[in-house]
Amino acid sequence: IGKNLIVLDEVGSTNDYLKKLGADGCENGTVAVAREQTQGKGRLGRVWKAKKDDSITFSFLLRPKIAPSEVSSITPLAGLAVCKAIREFTGLDCRIKWPNDIIIGKKKLVGILTEMSAEFDAVEYVITGIGINADTQDFPDDIKEKATSIYLATGGHFDKNKFFACVLNHIEEEFIKNDLKLSPVALKEYTSLCATVGRDITFTKNGKSVTAKAVGVNPDGELIAELPDKTTKLINSGEVTVQGI
Ligand code: BTN
Repeated sequence: IGKNLIVLDEVGSTNDYLKKLGADGCENGTVAVAREQTQGKGRLGRVWKAKKDDSITFSFLLRPKIAPSEVSSITPLAGLAVCKAIREFTGLDCRIKWPNDIIIGKKKLVGILTEMSAEFDAVEYVITGIGINADTQDFPDDIKEKATSIYLATGGHFDKNKFFACVLNHIEEEFIKNDLKLSPVALKEYTSLCATVGRDITFTKNGKSVTAKAVGVNPDGELIAELPDKTTKLINSGEVTVQGI
C-alpha cells in the first residue's frame, strides 16, 4: 500500500478522487493523501470538515479478489490497524467505536468511510478513506464536546510524515497477515480494543428504540447484541447509540 502515493494540496474528497483513478485502472494499493478537502465525505451522508493540515485525510484503493459481501471486513480491519498505529506511535489509549470510529474517552479521533465498485457480483475496487484528527487545536463549538485530535490528546505536535508511514505500514501488515479477513486473531484484537463491546446500546428497529447489550463482533464485522429476552441480534448498519461513550 502506498507504492503509488499521490500527494494533493487540495481536493474535493480523496475517496472521490480515487474513484476516478480506479475507473481508469490505477494500480492496487494506490494511496491519495490531501492537505485539504473541500468536499470531505462522512458516513450516512455526513460531511468530514477539517482545516488545511489539521487532519490527515487519505484514501487507498484495493483490487481484492473477493465477493462484495466480503468487503464488510475491510473497514474493521483498517480500524484495527489505525488504532494499533496510533497506540504505538503516541501511547494514547484509543479504542474502536463500532463499526468504524476511533475514540479517546468519549471523543472521536478518526473516521473511516469505505466505498466499493462491483460489477456482476465481483468487486472491481474498494476505496477506504480515513480521516485522522491530527493537529487540530480548536474544534468548532458544535463538535467541541465530541471530537479530539492527537495534538489535543498528547499536548504536542508530532512528525506527521513518520506517523502517516506508520499508519500505512500497519494497514498493509494487518491486511496481509489476515488475508483481508477478520481472522480469529484479528477479531480477538478488534474485540479487545472495541469500546462498544460490553456496553449497553440503543438501536432503532421498526421505528422503535430498542436497548440491548453489545456482547461481541462476528467475522463479518457485525455487532452481536443480546436483547433483554436473552435472544441475540446481529446489527450491521444504521445508527447505534452506545451508552457511556
Ligand atoms: C465518518 O466518520 O463518518 C467517516 C469519515 C471519513 C473521512 C475520510 S477523510 C478521507 C476520505 N475522503 C473523504 O471524503 N472521506 C474520507
